[in-house]
Amino acid sequence: MEDSYAGLSSHYDLVMTSGYYDYDAYARAMSTVIGPRTELVEIGVGTGLVCEKILELGGAGVRITGIDHSASMLAVARRRLGTRVTLEHQDVLRLSLPRVYDVAYSVGGVWACTRAGDDVRMASLLPTDGENLRALENVRGCLKPEGLLVLSVQRPHVDHRQRLRNGFVYSQEVREERNGMVVKDYRVTDGEVVVARQQSRIRIFERSEAEDLLARAGFRPVPESGDGVIDVFAVR
Ligand SMILES: C[S@@+](CC[C@H](N)C(=O)[O-])C[C@H]1O[C@@H](n2cnc3c(N)ncnc32)[C@H](O)[C@@H]1O
Repeated sequence: MEDSYAGLSSHYDLVMTSGYYDYDAYARAMSTVIGPRTELVEIGVGTGLVCEKILELGGAGVRITGIDHSASMLAVARRRLGTRVTLEHQDVLRLSLPRVYDVAYSVGGVWACTRAGDDVRMASLLPTDGENLRALENVRGCLKPEGLLVLSVQRPHVDHRQRLRNGFVYSQEVREERNGMVVKDYRVTDGEVVVARQQSRIRIFERSEAEDLLARAGFRPVPESGDGVIDVFAVR
């Protein structure tokens, strides 16, 4: 199976916990939306950073299954989460899960929303419309009839450089291609030495395109939910 995060996985936690994402804010907003629901699935669980925070806030009743196609990211998640969650090495394009879920969520995972003022878009690590539709239908298929899909909202993908806690420097360079694609080059450097590098191709959907795609997959937006930190969609 593909491992699109092999380049960054050993430095991912360091980058993300040096202020890239506010995982506490995501987990708090998620917990409010989750309410009494207990069965959750994370799409693109990565190293389990937000998963762990949701577990801590959710108490004993919450059961999370995390899926990811990256063996190297999952290895870190296994060390972090142990047996507290079910981790599945799966591609969202070929999803086969043991249960049906109340909530599927992606926090900067396979999907996320981006917001700049009123301009809200959806970013996807799957490049084509067909793949996005298939994957969203797969997610829809593992949800209960009253299930929810929750996507994190983050700043748009832009060039960015930041010093990490251990003195390394993280940088990302973003290049726009045609057809809504952006290419993101990530690097972690120790002085002149590049210690990690990765490239991701990200598909950006305008809000109307995203809502159309989500509608075709069986989801409708739930307005006024999520404190601006997450966007919520319900099974239609
Ligand atoms: C930004 S990272 C993880 C974010 C994670 N939710 C967190 O809390 O930090 C995105 C993850 O999506 C995973 N991913 C990308 N494409 C995927 C696919 N087709 N199927 C499953 N996972 C995928 C990557 O391997 C990566 O671990």
